[in-house]
Amino acid sequence: MKTLTSFVIIIFLQSLLVHIFCLHQTSSNGILEYSSSTFPSDFLFGTASSAYQYEGAFSTDGKSLNNWDVFTHENPGKILDENNGDIAVDQYHRFREDIQLMTFLGVNSYRFSISWSRVLPRGKLGGINYSGIKYYNILINSLISRGIKPFVTLNHMDYPQELENRFQSWLNPEMQNEFGYLADICFKHFGNRVKYWTTLNEPNQQVILAYITGRFPPSRCSSPYGNCSRGNSEIEPFIAAHNMILAHAKAVNIYKTKYQREQKGSIGIVVQTSWFEPISDSIADKDAAERAQSFYSNWILDPVIYGKYPKEMVNILGTALPQFSSNQVKSLNNSKVDFIGINHYTSYFIQDCLTSSCNAGYGAFKAEGFALKLDRKGNVSIGELTDVDWQHIDPEGFHKMLNYLTDRYPNIPMFITENGFGDLQKPETTDKELLHDTKRIQYISGYLEALQVAMRDGANVKGYFVWSLLDNFEWLDGYKLRFGLFHVDYTTLKRTPKESASWYKNFIEEHVNRRELVDN
Ligand code: NOJ
Repeated sequence: MKTLTSFVIIIFLQSLLVHIFCLHQTSSNGILEYSSSTFPSDFLFGTASSAYQYEGAFSTDGKSLNNWDVFTHENPGKILDENNGDIAVDQYHRFREDIQLMTFLGVNSYRFSISWSRVLPRGKLGGINYSGIKYYNILINSLISRGIKPFVTLNHMDYPQELENRFQSWLNPEMQNEFGYLADICFKHFGNRVKYWTTLNEPNQQVILAYITGRFPPSRCSSPYGNCSRGNSEIEPFIAAHNMILAHAKAVNIYKTKYQREQKGSIGIVVQTSWFEPISDSIADKDAAERAQSFYSNWILDPVIYGKYPKEMVNILGTALPQFSSNQVKSLNNSKVDFIGINHYTSYFIQDCLTSSCNAGYGAFKAEGFALKLDRKGNVSIGELTDVDWQHIDPEGFHKMLNYLTDRYPNIPMFITENGFGDLQKPETTDKELLHDTKRIQYISGYLEALQVAMRDGANVKGYFVWSLLDNFEWLDGYKLRFGLFHVDYTTLKRTPKESASWYKNFIEEHVNRRELVDN
């Protein structure tokens, strides 16, 4: 009996040791890590894309011209390589091949957006283009048949040009009805299979580029923010954002009242975030960093979640900031998001321009919250600077950002809808160098590590999407700024895995295996 008891005790101690050993390991930097995955079994690992940047087929099968088609055709000189999205990476015709690439990666989700002008070429006027509906139906079915969940953005920067010509798009409240209509059509046709919806992609960033600096269509701005022939940078961005927020609320409302019970999906919105680090310990710089957040992601998230604009915006903008009527507040309160989508790429130092004067620079003026964004403090940079002027590698900033969002919007589930690294192609860059993308691996692994730390701190993150599956049309940088895990040869459109593709594949595999190890 005594021998049996000691035997049982030995076996128990042995299995305890094995368990402890399996759950912990020491990483190369000497930090004790959990080897059980931080990612729950329903965590989405994916890659992200958008219609204009990927589809091409710009006037195929009944699609009308959108704002980006017209802008790039009328102003080739504004795009780094004077190119456009007419063909892009031709995903419209090559989506089957692209799904095979996703299968290689082992992702369980794909984020893409609907091309508004493909589905509703004239908006509410003129009817549905059923070829567009068919395209997305086949795409969705093909993804699902490979075990990849569609994660669909209703609108990612592009809209039928007719809406601009007819009533100035986002400057007009009519756009809310147009967007509500698009959303309804999409829920109706695709909602039985799509379980993750987001309304708008980065309204904050879109409005800044389209109406403050005027670098994106419809190219509206005023001095000193940019050089445009029309617009008012201290008034129009706030009107456009107001219409976007209410358009978002309308779409969520339609989903919640007409579709969600039966379709059982979830809906959110995507904002661009950056971490803003005060450049000094002074109260003025700390307040400025807070203002920078308010004039960026809180601008959209506060109204969506709390039904009001951040106080810093109200204080600085006064009557230039539209007010939500009591009915609109009700509509915002009745259209609560199920999650928020976070796009995150970079960090900045922030210097106050309210109490001390800044002559110029990104963020220095009223419409930007008088919070100057800098990449250096003396000779110390915010993270590692790169060839891309806005991308600074600072995983710790991501960790801080996720904690900030968790504090400000407690308990709201988050998806990291975009995170990735851009390689700027110079004349001397070779394809070999582009495929050997160690910087991208370093960037993504650092940010995924920071994500796990934030999740252990309590951030409720449900998924992570790399921007991007393929190199693609990077807006004003054309095809010269490459974000893909797969390289695209723009003469043949051939896709070739970069080293980061294998790295991401292994990362996903490892985490799925670790989960299985622990689950068993
Ligand atoms: C965010 C935007 O949503 C996407 O369209 C863009 O390509 C990436 N940032 C990279 O700049």
